[in-house]
Amino acid sequence: MGNVMEKIIDENKQGETLILDKKEGNQRKLFIESYGCAMNFSDSEIVASILSEQGFNTTQKLEEADLVLVNTCSIRDKAEQTVRKRLQQYNAVKRTNPKMKVGVLGCMAERLKTKFLEEEKIVDLVVGPDAYKDLPNLLAEVDEGRDAINVVLSKEETYGDISPVRLNSNGVTAFVSITRGCDNMCTFCVVPFTRGRERSRDPQSIIEEINDLWSKGFKEITLLGQNVDSYLWYGGGLKKDFEKATDLQKATAVNFAKLLELSAKAQPKMRIRFSTSNPQDFTMDVIETMAKYDNICKHIHLPVQSGSDRILKEMNRLHTREEYFELIDNIRRLIPECSISMDLIAGFPTETEQDHKDTLSLMEYVKYSFGYMFTYSERPGTMAGRKMEDDVPEVDKKRRLNDIVQLQRQHSEYRTRQHLNTTVEILIEKASKKSDQQWSGRTSDSIVAVFPKEHYKVGDLVNVYITDCTSATLIGEAVGYSKKN
Ligand code: SAH
Ligand code: F3S
Repeated sequence: MGNVMEKIIDENKQGETLILDKKEGNQRKLFIESYGCAMNFSDSEIVASILSEQGFNTTQKLEEADLVLVNTCSIRDKAEQTVRKRLQQYNAVKRTNPKMKVGVLGCMAERLKTKFLEEEKIVDLVVGPDAYKDLPNLLAEVDEGRDAINVVLSKEETYGDISPVRLNSNGVTAFVSITRGCDNMCTFCVVPFTRGRERSRDPQSIIEEINDLWSKGFKEITLLGQNVDSYLWYGGGLKKDFEKATDLQKATAVNFAKLLELSAKAQPKMRIRFSTSNPQDFTMDVIETMAKYDNICKHIHLPVQSGSDRILKEMNRLHTREEYFELIDNIRRLIPECSISMDLIAGFPTETEQDHKDTLSLMEYVKYSFGYMFTYSERPGTMAGRKMEDDVPEVDKKRRLNDIVQLQRQHSEYRTRQHLNTTVEILIEKASKKSDQQWSGRTSDSIVAVFPKEHYKVGDLVNVYITDCTSATLIGEAVGYSKKN
């Protein structure tokens, strides 16, 4: 999980290079990097899978790549600047390897479209999030020396029929995508424009993917969507067209609580997580399902964005502060051990000091386990971008963000300390970053714990007695295997 500051600067970090299991006979080399949200990392696994059928194996060496793809993020201006800088680095390498082709995928491709080809001469290929199946055709164009672009958004595409190649995998945890796009139209957010209207993936293909992951040794999956709680399968098509579905389709529709249950039952030993939840779409039956199944991890990422009713309204977040508290109370009542994390934006247009204080007092009420905190970044084309002046001075935004980060640090510490002198169940994911003598993994409520390796191995579910902690990491000693292994 890292500490709070690490999370804020997440998008500054260089995107991770991905490793693909090599397919025999493949001659061409693909270098693929992802920036931004988990959905982008998951999408890159789909892209790698499509391209492995086109003769590409991945490489981690930029210099030897025939094709360089960067999966991009548009959520904040800073995220876009990071990608632009990275393109310049590719450019330097391309001078020594003129045959190298460069493609831009994801949200920036969708947002900037042909502008990308004009602005960044280095780019040969621009592909939006719904057009990855067209990559073989687009690459044929590029091979013939032409620029290629497909940024058409789809009503149906969920890539449910593509079996992702797990890249840079620890072999233990994996993402399973369940919805694409978003219909919520929060006024600050570019996602509905870059990822299109909301569609849900066939539950059968989701369960098959979970079963396949289990058979390959994976122990934990995260069901992924911009807004998982609005998942709704009624035979395919856009969420907004559900009204037009037949009576039979309506009667047999699968909602998120049901999908969660199906997933938990399909592999009772697989740990199940999900992300992200918009409070306005979160329903009691999801909390009940979480409470009922031991293998559903007890953590909810529940972004609130602001603690002020007026700002929530301006953001088109369709719940009040009071309703959010009710939801928190319900979660705590049914699952007392459940951790809750958040996203918050400081300095949304018209935000006053009083609005900011409301955010701090909301945080005091919830005492989140951790959070991702940002200053407002105006995005062209969004409702706030078009209709509202970005009027909170940068210094005030930064100061308010700092207040939020400081308070969150106290709350993280408070929540982490609650695990002291208890035994927690940890799924071992990898060696600790700080010491290769220690394992690192997460509790069900998504707190990172480190402990001496002893005879345990990656993928083991281990009981760990917690003796110490930092503000965000538990420190302990293994006391034996969990009975659930
Ligand atoms: N539904 C997705 C939203 C993705 S954006 C999810 O909840 O994960 C992730 C977070 O980025 C949002 O919750 C919000 O806090 C932040 N964000 C989105 N647009 C932003 C903007 N224009 N400026 C600053 N932060 C923004
Ligand atoms: Fe963005 Fe709101 Fe959807 S934050 S992704 S429009 S739920």
